[in-house]
Amino acid sequence: MQTIDDPSAIQRRCESLRRDGKTIGLVPTMGAFHEGHVSLMRWARADNDILVVSVFVNPIQFGRGEDFDSYPRDLDGDLAQAEQAGVDLVFAPSAEAIYPKGFQTYVDVTEVTKGLCGASRPGHFRGVTTVVAKLFNLIGPHRAYFGQKDYQQSVVVRRLVADLNMALDIVLLPTVREADGLAMSSRNIRLTPPQRRAASVLYASLSRAETRIRDGERNAATIFEDVRAMIETEPLARIDYVAVCDPETLQPLDCIEGPALVALAVRFGETRLIDNFLITAS
Ligand code: PAF
Repeated sequence: MQTIDDPSAIQRRCESLRRDGKTIGLVPTMGAFHEGHVSLMRWARADNDILVVSVFVNPIQFGRGEDFDSYPRDLDGDLAQAEQAGVDLVFAPSAEAIYPKGFQTYVDVTEVTKGLCGASRPGHFRGVTTVVAKLFNLIGPHRAYFGQKDYQQSVVVRRLVADLNMALDIVLLPTVREADGLAMSSRNIRLTPPQRRAASVLYASLSRAETRIRDGERNAATIFEDVRAMIETEPLARIDYVAVCDPETLQPLDCIEGPALVALAVRFGETRLIDNFLITAS
């Protein structure tokens, strides 16, 4: 495994691999690996000749007052896990290398970024799509792998790829969960033990929504209210949003007739967690 921090060097290396006919899989990350990242790497390892993982805590996707400074960082630990997962190349650039002096070009997906996390984190997705476009240009992957926990991000990135005619497949893989159902996230380590216990209400409320939809509930407002009420039984939880929406357009649903995305963002102290279920009314 080789670690590269220079954008031109990774670009040259990946160009040469593509010329040799190798397929490249990319797992873009902000580091602080957990089992969710490792599972993306395993899939990508199996699908491609070359596995590239990027580790970059992207400053421009964090708003003012958000947790850029306190975001967990552990490059040595990440490199050890990447090696174990059979990664060929780790791209770990500095912020100055990605955004050198004079940088002024941003990529903006305008519609599917409006609701959910886009509403509570203005500018967040502009930061994501800008860095993801740069990573795709530098690495030229045939496939890039994302986790379902960040479902809206995957919709936004798919839109970016379609709208800008980028020639790669976006692969969305299931959320990896702790034993009590909490979605794995680099931010989980910042929860205090009582917050960590309280956070299991997220999975419990999504599971309840799933049961109710499977049992025939079709009214999105009822599901919304149920999830909201269940989370509010937990005194340490502060809801940012709960939404029942169309999984493609991310527009709120009135009636659940086919697939529905039930998504939420909830704060426990300073830590904001997101999760979602894709549920199909049958
Ligand atoms: O999901 C993430 O970790 C980040 O948003 C990504 C895709 C690596 C872009 O910085």
